[in-house]
Amino acid sequence: MAGPPAAWVVRFAPLVPAGAPVLDLACGRGRHGRLFLDRGHPVTFVDRDLSAVADLADRPAATLIEADLEDGSAWPVPGRRFGGVVVTNYLHRPLMPALIDAVAAEGVLIYETFADGNARFGRPSCVDFLLRRGELLGLLGDSLSTVAFEDGEVAVPRPAIVQRIVAVAPARTPVAIPPA
Ligand SMILES: C[S@@+](CC[C@H](N)C(=O)[O-])C[C@H]1O[C@@H](n2cnc3c(N)ncnc32)[C@H](O)[C@@H]1O
Repeated sequence: MAGPPAAWVVRFAPLVPAGAPVLDLACGRGRHGRLFLDRGHPVTFVDRDLSAVADLADRPAATLIEADLEDGSAWPVPGRRFGGVVVTNYLHRPLMPALIDAVAAEGVLIYETFADGNARFGRPSCVDFLLRRGELLGLLGDSLSTVAFEDGEVAVPRPAIVQRIVAVAPARTPVAIPPA
């Protein structure tokens, strides 16, 4: 059971161009990649442990890449561009330039993870895994244009402090913002 996709990803999924390839980075059980497979996108799933997406191995539209993203290995999808780059509940700051570069000209980056202050709700509580206030905006720099950004406390799916962003290539703006 992959679990339900994050509401943030569901809301902004329509910004991924129809049929465009999607990258689900640090995919875990692949709940977001599965969402995009269901929407008719080819999806590349990357994680250091693919056991929770092994059931997708026979799906022609699913590419599974086992890779450690933090051990200094090469970026696992060199030269590839995606209509959707999705990262949730995972943070490794050095990857940000590669993530931005992986967003196609008509693509979108959808990112959501935990932020400073989350320790009072549980894990993650280590500062290495928590974004500082507004940090995602800074990490993106000028390469992508922000469509939506939130930074604060949420009650669902469980109480947490999160930061989330949706960004597109500047040439694509303005986009129609999907309703909340
Ligand atoms: C909290 S889970 C999030 C999974 C998924 N993105 C989601 O939101 O459902 C974090 C994921 O990051 C992966 N991960 C952690 N460190 C990693 C690394 N160094 N290289 C690749 N994947 C890693 C874990 O295996 C795990 O699947």
